[in-house]
Amino acid sequence: MDALQLLEKEHKGVKALFRKLEKAEGREASALWEQIKADLIMHEQMEETYLYPPLKEEDRTEDLVLEAYEEHHLADLLIEEISRLRPSDEQWQPKIKVLQENIEHHIEEEEGQLFPKVRKLWDMDKRKRVGEQMAGMKQHATGSRGGSASR
Ligand SMILES: [Fe+2]
Ligand SMILES: [Fe+2]
Repeated sequence: MDALQLLEKEHKGVKALFRKLEKAEGREASALWEQIKADLIMHEQMEETYLYPPLKEEDRTEDLVLEAYEEHHLADLLIEEISRLRPSDEQWQPKIKVLQENIEHHIEEEEGQLFPKVRKLWDMDKRKRVGEQMAGMKQHATGSRGGSASR
C-alpha cells in the first residue's frame, strides 16, 4: 500500500477514537485511551523511521519535517502526562482535549502540506516500498504485543 494512504488511514482511525473518547468515561475511557496511546506511538515510530529522515534531507520538506518532529515531541509529553492520570481526575478531560487538538492540527499539516510535496518527490513505486516497510514494522510490533492485546 502507498505509504501516504496507509498513514491517512491511521489518521482517520485515531481521530475517530478521540471522538469516541469524548463521550466515554471510567473503564471505557481508560481502554480507549490505551488504544489511542499505542496507536499514536506506533504511528510516530513509523513516520520517524521511514518518512521523516529522508524528507529532512530534501530542501522542499526540511522545514515541515523539523516542525513535525516538534509536534510529535509535544504529543509525547502530553501522552506521558495523561498516562499518569485517571479519567476521574480533573486534568484528564482538558489534557485529552489539548492532545486531541494538537493531533488534529498535526494531521492537517501532514495531509495538507507535507504529503502533497511527498507525492511530487516520490513516485508510486517508492511510496509503495515505504508503505511495505511501515506495514512490516507495524506487523512486527503488534505481533510481539499479541499476548496483551488478546487479554
Ligand atoms: Fe506525524
Ligand atoms: Fe501522521
